[in-house]
Amino acid sequence: MEREALRFAIMGGGLIGREHAALIAATPGADLVAIADPAPAAAPVASEFGARHYLDYRTMLDEMRPDGVIVALPNALHAQAAIACVERGIPCLVEKPVADTLEAARDLVAAAERADVPVLVGHQRRHSPDIAKAKQLIEEGRLGRLVGVNAMWLADKPEAYFDAAWRKQAGGGPLLINLIHDIDCLRFICGDITEVMAFTSNSVRGFEVEDSASVSLRFSSGAVGTVLMSDTAVSPYNWDTAAGQALYFPHQPENAYFFSGTKAALALPSMDLWKHETEAGHWQDPLVKRHVTLDGSRAYVNQLAHFMKVVTGDAKPLVSARDGMMTLATILAIARSSRERRPVNPSDL
Ligand SMILES: NC(=O)c1ccc[n+]([C@@H]2O[C@H](COP(=O)([O-])OP(=O)(O)OC[C@H]3O[C@@H](n4cnc5c(N)ncnc54)[C@H](O)[C@@H]3O)[C@@H](O)[C@H]2O)c1
Repeated sequence: MEREALRFAIMGGGLIGREHAALIAATPGADLVAIADPAPAAAPVASEFGARHYLDYRTMLDEMRPDGVIVALPNALHAQAAIACVERGIPCLVEKPVADTLEAARDLVAAAERADVPVLVGHQRRHSPDIAKAKQLIEEGRLGRLVGVNAMWLADKPEAYFDAAWRKQAGGGPLLINLIHDIDCLRFICGDITEVMAFTSNSVRGFEVEDSASVSLRFSSGAVGTVLMSDTAVSPYNWDTAAGQALYFPHQPENAYFFSGTKAALALPSMDLWKHETEAGHWQDPLVKRHVTLDGSRAYVNQLAHFMKVVTGDAKPLVSARDGMMTLATILAIARSSRERRPVNPSDL
């Protein structure tokens, strides 16, 4: 028997909320029924998608009783909005970061686990075929033992991006908005991060929040890593433009992550796998480059398809609130390490 279309609602009709609306509208079996956002610009967005417009998200939840909700609000509102869904037994996809503080994240994790209502965190890159494949290759030992990773997220945001004041205040900033995606990917692919050491800088933009950072990582496997991040650097070295999997960025094929193991190296998102011709090969022997083929599927489309399975009870969240909280803890450990000029273990937070 054919299932009725799932009824979705969105909290926050801003930059990413509108993209979620368009994705739902383009997905068979999914209907967008309402958007809650008090901003005047949100009413025409709702009507463009044939959805009802609400000023208050709690009223929207109570009146519309959607099957699933996407929380696309400023970071500081994520936890309370997701808890409002959990309290009503409604599964939600909450944009990253899961919350702006660990206290708020803990409240959400406790509420979701107590009520057994699924919460999926919007780390959409985990649904991207290159990220999923890298995890698989490393877990299968195709790189031998993972030695380390070198990652970059470098891009130049325009001035107008910072008209939304939350983006340049504590709780916003590129550690929580951008680097969190890379850290989540690295945790997903390489395993938990047990120690971080970081330098941050706000010397270019001069905002309260950082504009650039360099980070050293230690993974529980013993592998180590480095990450360089800036939102004020002209560069193709960021996963969003390099992978062509982001929604509103040009595709500029390049690499952003370099994994090195005892038997092979892998660059992402090109999926170039470098190794010697024979097992006996070493640094004086040539390396051979092979390309690993992907399925061509799209990260945000896959994420929505997964969320639909979560809503119907056919899948557990690939990124649970607890998992999202550990990614958040790792980012907050990076911020603390820079402030206190010392290594920090995310678990100690
Ligand atoms: N996963 C991704 O690729 C991705 C991309 C961009 C943003 N994000 C995340 O999505 C979230 C939103 O980011 P954005 O860039 O769309 O921000 P935005 O400022 O463009 O949009 C946020 C919207 O929320 C609305 N809002 C504020 N308070 C509200 C309330 N109480 N009830 C309902 N609506 C309210 C605002 O009016 C605004 O329209 C952030 O957490 C950000 O980190 C994720």
